[in-house]
Amino acid sequence: MQSDLKAALKAAMTDTARAVEDTIGRLLPSTDLAEARLFDAMRYGSLNGGKRLRPFLVMKSADLFGVNPDCAIRVAAAVEMVHSYSLVHDDLPAMDDGELRRGRPTCHRQFDEATAILAGDGLLTFAFEVLADHATHEDPNIRCQLVTALAKAAGGHGMVGGQMLDLIAEHETFDLGTTTRLQRMKTGEMIAFSCEAGGILGKAAPPQRAALRAYAHDLGLAFQIVDDLLDVEGTEAETGKTVGRDAQAGKATFVSILGRDRARSQAEILASQASAHLDIFEGRADMLKAVADFVVARRA
Ligand code: IPE
Ligand code: IPE
Ligand code: MG
Ligand code: MG
Ligand code: MG
Repeated sequence: MQSDLKAALKAAMTDTARAVEDTIGRLLPSTDLAEARLFDAMRYGSLNGGKRLRPFLVMKSADLFGVNPDCAIRVAAAVEMVHSYSLVHDDLPAMDDGELRRGRPTCHRQFDEATAILAGDGLLTFAFEVLADHATHEDPNIRCQLVTALAKAAGGHGMVGGQMLDLIAEHETFDLGTTTRLQRMKTGEMIAFSCEAGGILGKAAPPQRAALRAYAHDLGLAFQIVDDLLDVEGTEAETGKTVGRDAQAGKATFVSILGRDRARSQAEILASQASAHLDIFEGRADMLKAVADFVVARRA
């Protein structure tokens, strides 16, 4: 990637991260009600840094169609709330038993397990409240499409289904095809929603939506392959989260099946394939193309 584009991407991702942090913070204020602990845990689980990659994809895909950023940032916040909930639950002792997340103790370690479960539930449901609100888009049909698409991406045929397969992968040997399906569901669908959201908000034409979806699917797979590599090669200081758990749990991943070198070259192929799907936007999607390179080169 050219170094000026790399610097521009870094600056733009920082801007989006700040904007999404502000938006979630405003939508989810602290409270002095008796159940304040729940809201503290919801804030802890979602206002804690992270790359904010999915919000960035929402904002940049929305940009392509001239969508009002005040609307897009609400969708970006909603998808990040769902993602944050998925991490809070993923870290629970019944799942990956993580100790560190985004450089801090995981939600259940900071609070307690029951509170972390409820905080995840609260973030998940609140995301849909945000999408369904008039402020997200004046057209109820668009709001309904957003709600449906996020529900599908996060649900049993998407992220949650992928998480089930991921747990099964601890004691069953999956082949490459099943592992690919697992990753597409677990990670790919939420990334695909993030890219499609801009197209929904901007009432994009079918070919443009299809191009974004194709980009997102390759990007999502590359992203998860690198996540699996970082679990082996990364340190807690770099990634801000517990590493080494996949091998410890005996989990089938791209890395365990292909080995590190082939997994990395597969991620590189997928990233360049992802970029190529965006050629239809004729230079207007350069930042999204740069994201594909970022995803492979990242150390966190
Ligand atoms: C981690 O997601 C979980 C996966 C789906 C692989 P991210 O790597 O996007 O985590 P944050 O949001 O930056 O913390
Ligand atoms: C989790 O995948 C993906 C989610 C849907 C939360 P991982 O278990 O590999 O994510 P990390 O490595 O803990 O972030
Ligand atoms: Mg997991
Ligand atoms: Mg995990
Ligand atoms: Mg992982």
